[in-house]
Amino acid sequence: MKELEQKNQQYESLIQKAVALLDEESDPVTWMASLCCLLKEEMGFFWVGFYRVKGKALVIGPYQGSFGCLHISFDRGVCGACATSRKTIVVPDVHAFPGHIACDHRSCSEIVVPVLDRDGELRAVLDIDSDRYSTFDEADQVALERLVGMMKDLAWTESN
Ligand code: SME
Repeated sequence: MKELEQKNQQYESLIQKAVALLDEESDPVTWMASLCCLLKEEMGFFWVGFYRVKGKALVIGPYQGSFGCLHISFDRGVCGACATSRKTIVVPDVHAFPGHIACDHRSCSEIVVPVLDRDGELRAVLDIDSDRYSTFDEADQVALERLVGMMKDLAWTESN
């Protein structure tokens, strides 16, 4: 099976699992923790995590992988760029991204997806790192945006 086809199938199965397991859940932390688990287990990414919006900064939320930076301001890193633009950012080579924050030296490529609530307010970003270059493409972007799109109606509060 072609690589892209396999990846799309993996995402499809992951999304179906998320729907089945989390459909009745409205707690953002429950969702974030469970999606980290599914993304790590099903897709094999080496670092998966959420940074939550707290005032004008991003603060570490649920994640799976090595120890992540605790605070990221909006003007720093790939996560900050995503939070500021509120657009998904795909980085084929993190070493070529100005201001990239290296939490784990094994990271080679990265994708960061904004998590918006039903009013379009930015609540978090989903950050996924790979230990290979050019891991993420449009297929990842589409699937991950679909996945975090399922979080828009959760019971978001300032303290999530
Ligand atoms: N690389 C990110 C920081 C978070 S870690 O990768 C877990 C960035 O540049 O924003």
